[in-house]
Amino acid sequence: MSMESIPLKKNLGTLDLVLLGLGAVIGTGIFVVTGAAAATYAGPGLIFSFIIAGFVIFLMGLCYAELASRYPVVGGPYAYMLQIAGKRLAWVAGWYTIWEYLLASASVASGWSGYVNGFLNGLGVGLPVIFQASFNPEQGTYVDLIAVSMTLLVTWLVSFEAKKALRLNNFMFFIKFGIIALFIIVGIFFVEPSNWQPLLPFGFSGVASGAALLFFAFLGFDSISMAAEEVKNPQKSLPLGIFFAIGISALLYILVTLVLTGIVPFTELNVKDPVAFALRYVDQHVLASIVSVGAILTLLTVLIAMLYGLARLLFAMSKGGLLPRYMNQVNKKTGVPTNATWTAGIITSIFTGLIPLQQLAEITNLVTLIVMMMLAIGVIVIRKREGKPTDGSFYVPLVPLVPILAVLSTLYLIFQLSLLTWLLFLVVTFIGYIIFIVNQRKTAHKTS
Ligand code: ALA
Repeated sequence: MSMESIPLKKNLGTLDLVLLGLGAVIGTGIFVVTGAAAATYAGPGLIFSFIIAGFVIFLMGLCYAELASRYPVVGGPYAYMLQIAGKRLAWVAGWYTIWEYLLASASVASGWSGYVNGFLNGLGVGLPVIFQASFNPEQGTYVDLIAVSMTLLVTWLVSFEAKKALRLNNFMFFIKFGIIALFIIVGIFFVEPSNWQPLLPFGFSGVASGAALLFFAFLGFDSISMAAEEVKNPQKSLPLGIFFAIGISALLYILVTLVLTGIVPFTELNVKDPVAFALRYVDQHVLASIVSVGAILTLLTVLIAMLYGLARLLFAMSKGGLLPRYMNQVNKKTGVPTNATWTAGIITSIFTGLIPLQQLAEITNLVTLIVMMMLAIGVIVIRKREGKPTDGSFYVPLVPLVPILAVLSTLYLIFQLSLLTWLLFLVVTFIGYIIFIVNQRKTAHKTS
């Protein structure tokens, strides 16, 4: 991964950062995961889960932002850890960041397919059940064919037309807000307050598990911190941008959850397209279809952006000698890292085809929380070593209190996650360890 500074124009203000964050953050979490989380973890009390997860993310965002503005280089957590703690920990951060992107891409594709399947079933032209969801023989499903096909199609698109596809995101932003607003405004009229009772059907532990799962809904906020280099007044705009983006998304999430659990008894919300489902539940079929089409379009663009990012990350790490060399080739005609793009797409399609969304989201959270924790500790280390930045770039207030609080709250969320998630995490860690050792040997071999 190159550590050169790239001179970029400092032209972003607070509002730009808020919009950037909202565009990247709002997606599968709210459109899909909310339903299952309300049904199985927290009931209407899911609103408190969002508050807890939002608070943790805010602390994390501050730490991330200090490192991003101290080290305005390409590479995200990998690059920051390389400066703070050397190659070994940098590799760990980079490896988990790859998985964050990979699993988040798989989650978005899976959520997307939930809406497409729901939509097709509604039209009476659904796929055979075995192809409608991930591997679960008890339910008669084996592979999520739509998620797999779409991931491969998007990979193909990203392998030659990524820039144009990314431009779509700006337009999709308005569609996304339009359908969320439509749902809240129309949905309010169908709310039955009795559905909000009991508020905490699974007690506080359900709220905490809900927070650990729906942490996912806030991922993507790092796009704000990563823009640090292009911000006019980082000390003011970064914390405000992070605060408002997280605050506004948390508010929207809470409103959607209130309306959702107010319309449909929470026990019935374990469906793949809860927002459209709630509208169908009260016979608003046309609106349900509009919301479905909107969700399908917006989630698709999120998937494009994520696979694009993942391919670049693989490419950069391969270039830095930390991943197999074949991923570092660039197609001469298109200038796209084709091998890295296809590697990203094929692995993502396997995960999205076979693993259920909720599991994907949990493991995405675990790897992300670990990286974030490393960064928070990194802030404490770098402050001891180098003190506060004096060049006007952003710094976290109240160090070491804020990073310590970030670490503790992260640990709290991490320990809410299921045993299966931890086991998958161990597998991911083990594979990373092997690749690291093999690469070390190869490098040692070359230099000896
Ligand atoms: N925050 C992103 C989403 O909810 C990952 O889709």
